Amino acid sequence: MKRIISFFGIALLVTCALAQDTQLAERGKQEEQHSCVQCHSLRLVDSQRLSKAGWEKEVNKMIGWGAPVSDRQLLVDYLSQQYSADKPQPPVEFTQTTAKQKSATPSSK
Ligand code: HEC
Repeated sequence: MKRIISFFGIALLVTCALAQDTQLAERGKQEEQHSCVQCHSLRLVDSQRLSKAGWEKEVNKMIGWGAPVSDRQLLVDYLSQQYSADKPQPPVEFTQTTAKQKSATPSSK
């Protein structure tokens, strides 16, 4: 009986942790879409891989430039979780540099 109870206890904890994660992801995404699209596409943001300190600096810089962020902490938490330095780099065609390189290449066939 004890085992069953602790099993449910653990299952409940895991569920809560997952739910919180999802909530951060959803609310963070909303905040990002609200605050970070006026001047450039979200690709520029989502293709970065930064540490938490890096994101903090980046978000502060964008706020200084006029980004209308309503929940700075949420946004920094979200960005540093989704686009942290240890996540794999996005596919090559996802970055702006490649787009520029591609369009700069003369299409001589
Ligand atoms: C007031 C306009 C403006 C808003 C709003 C804005 N940015 Fe930017 N952002 C810029 C400019 C200008 C650049 C430089 C663009 C370039 O180099 O092509 C930039 C570049 C970036 C870069 C690339 C690295 C760098 O520093 O050049 C990241 C990452 C970034 N912004 C994140 C964000 C995030 C996150 C938000 C939302 C909080 C945001 N931006 C909102 C103006 C803005």
